[in-house]
Amino acid sequence: MDELKKEINQRLNDILKPLKSGVVKEAMSYSLLAPGKRLRPLLFLSVLRSYGLDYHPYLNIACAIEMIHTYSLIHDDLPGMDNDDLRRGRPTCHKKFDEATAILAGDALLNLAVNTVLDVNIESDLKVKLLNCLYEASGVNGMIYGQQQDIAFENKQATLEELQDIHYHKTGELIAVSMQLASMVAHPEDYQYWTKIGFDLGLAFQVQDDVLDVIGDQKKLGKKVGSDLDNHKSTYVSLLGIDESQKKVEELFKNCYETVYAMRINHGLILELLTMILKRVN
Ligand code: IPE
Ligand code: IPE
Ligand code: MG
Ligand code: MG
Ligand code: MG
Repeated sequence: MDELKKEINQRLNDILKPLKSGVVKEAMSYSLLAPGKRLRPLLFLSVLRSYGLDYHPYLNIACAIEMIHTYSLIHDDLPGMDNDDLRRGRPTCHKKFDEATAILAGDALLNLAVNTVLDVNIESDLKVKLLNCLYEASGVNGMIYGQQQDIAFENKQATLEELQDIHYHKTGELIAVSMQLASMVAHPEDYQYWTKIGFDLGLAFQVQDDVLDVIGDQKKLGKKVGSDLDNHKSTYVSLLGIDESQKKVEELFKNCYETVYAMRINHGLILELLTMILKRVN
């Protein structure tokens, strides 16, 4: 996994290099090249590999997903949203630069992601389908809807159903689409399986995030603990408590393992990544 992560980081670096210099490029590089887990690109590339495909021609797609994710983090941290000072172990983008620059850097990353996919040398039809799927997942029917609902439920407790809706969208969509895109490239017949794994994993990942926001170690997390409480957020922990939330995470991971075994793939690669996520402390 470390080798793969290195290749992702190298490609991100290469894509940024030719951009026009200026403070926006600096802010984009600062946030994008910061030490994130690269989970979504790793999921995308690992699904390709689980079918025995050479992933190298598709590295740009992995990078595009990471750009959209990073843009969402830059904007999520802004004073008008979660108002956080620490991200990936460093001052947030608007703290290091300023709010205007952070907004523009986020916009630019979302924009750059399209050109990054367009640069991939594959059939135009497939490219259009991949872009459509990626931008549906991150748009107003997807991640942005989730962020909208997350804010709407500040200062009022969401029900379990409402929380699931928030988490599926704000986090599940981008995780699920990482696996869906790989399935579209490698083996479209398995699309429904990857969709199921993606949303189970996405929900589990956000419930873990809610738990880590309470009991995590700020040094390892690289972001502030207690942010949800400060913002009066509705979370799995605020509704169910720590123990029940952790049980939910385990149950969702069990679903993921079961679905993985329903497919004819190299299971080991995906299981390795899932187990890494299950045990995460950051
Ligand atoms: C943080 O995502 C935002 C959530 C969806 C919980 P990650 O935990 O994947 O953050 P990085 O990319 O490793 O910084
Ligand atoms: C973030 O959820 C989801 C997106 C950025 C889309 P959080 O607000 O819980 O993420 P962190 O905890 O700031 O990383
Ligand atoms: Mg948020
Ligand atoms: Mg946040
Ligand atoms: Mg959080």
